[in-house]
Amino acid sequence: VQHIRVNTPSTPSEVFVGPGVLERAGSLMLAALSAGDQAPPRQAALLVDSGVPQDVVDGLRASLDQAGVRTTSAKFTTSERSKTLEGLEPMLDALLRAKLERHEPVVALGGGILGDMAGFAAASYRRGVPWINCPTTLLSMVDASVGGKTGVNLRGSDAVLKKNMLGAFWQPAAVLVDPRVLASLPARLMRCGLAECVKHGMLSATPGIEDPMLGAWISEHVGDLLAHDEAALSELIARNISVKARVVERDEREESAASDSGRALLNLGHTFGHAIEPMPGLSLPGKLAHPGAESLQHGEAVALGMVAAAACSVELGLAHPSLCEHLEQTLVSIGLPTKVAGLPATPVVVEAMSHDKKVASGKLRLILPIGRGVCRVIVDAPSKAVAAGIDAIRA
Ligand SMILES: NC(=O)c1ccc[n+]([C@@H]2O[C@H](COP(=O)([O-])OP(=O)(O)OC[C@H]3O[C@@H](n4cnc5c(N)ncnc54)[C@H](O)[C@@H]3O)[C@@H](O)[C@H]2O)c1
Repeated sequence: VQHIRVNTPSTPSEVFVGPGVLERAGSLMLAALSAGDQAPPRQAALLVDSGVPQDVVDGLRASLDQAGVRTTSAKFTTSERSKTLEGLEPMLDALLRAKLERHEPVVALGGGILGDMAGFAAASYRRGVPWINCPTTLLSMVDASVGGKTGVNLRGSDAVLKKNMLGAFWQPAAVLVDPRVLASLPARLMRCGLAECVKHGMLSATPGIEDPMLGAWISEHVGDLLAHDEAALSELIARNISVKARVVERDEREESAASDSGRALLNLGHTFGHAIEPMPGLSLPGKLAHPGAESLQHGEAVALGMVAAAACSVELGLAHPSLCEHLEQTLVSIGLPTKVAGLPATPVVVEAMSHDKKVASGKLRLILPIGRGVCRVIVDAPSKAVAAGIDAIRA
């Protein structure tokens, strides 16, 4: 089992990664919660994603039981539409019914939606109880599980859902990551999680992160990772969590204005990606087409967004064309898209990008790769370069 400490200024998180970690959840959780002179909790509220196989839920409960922690559990079927204040109420009610006291934890077992909501429930209930995050999708393991961003989407009076508009920074006391739970994850979601790993690889040579070979390692091990090799998955997850940890430790609340560090770097591929993700009428070309299913998953939009960002960077003369080619090769080997059909005219895409949360004083802030493992925040990039980025992903 690998141990990573996330030294965020507010509260540190203890992360444990390895096969079988969930079977040891009880003792790992008690160790993380017993800092200081706090009495160990005697009970926990377990909030479970209905997509998680029952044997995983039972194993976690048994481990908590063995450690002398009684659990009250509740199951939730999650979606972006129910990741709202209304959707949060039944979770808060579960904490109320468990009569959870101030020092007793919420334990989240599920994907990124369940984790974001359970973390926000923990941040709000009695003005904050501890929480333990047990992520069960690759994306939630490598990305959402650390950094303490919790929250829900907010429905405006125009009925439009504003993604993650409401929330709190609330660090989990412990994050328990067991790669074995990925056995049941659909292949498309595995590939989407790998998109965020590729993203981390593109900024992992940033000073202070110091894992410059992460991108190359991912390219070399795509086969093992997609075949669920336990050792490869454990290494992937631990290295990616470390990248994210090093970034958020220095800029917990995403306040840094630095162009070469700071939490904003993690937004690589997301300004282009978020703009196209909800667009109607898009389809992936060739073997990647998913007729009938949602046209673009988040990880697929991020993959396309990274290609657009790399092409934009090449157009600006900030990166060598080989950087873009190498990125595309990696994405193709994973089974992620580099092109999409049905994109509207460029000005429509640019307009959608301007709604990005990261727009500051009306100026677009793009994260652009400038070399292997190195990115920069570029404010107000010339529209010709942005257009070149968008054109690069048109099928
Ligand atoms: N807090 C953060 O820093 C952060 C970072 C990135 C993303 N997010 C959020 O994460 C969410 C996306 O997370 P996600 O990609 O995990 O999607 P998700 O939570 O929607 O889960 C995807 C699907 O997988 C199912 N599932 C979960 N674990 C499974 C398992 N082991 N086997 C089979 N099925 C399983 C779920 O029930 C769900 O249907 C978004 O809402 C996003 O905003 C948060």
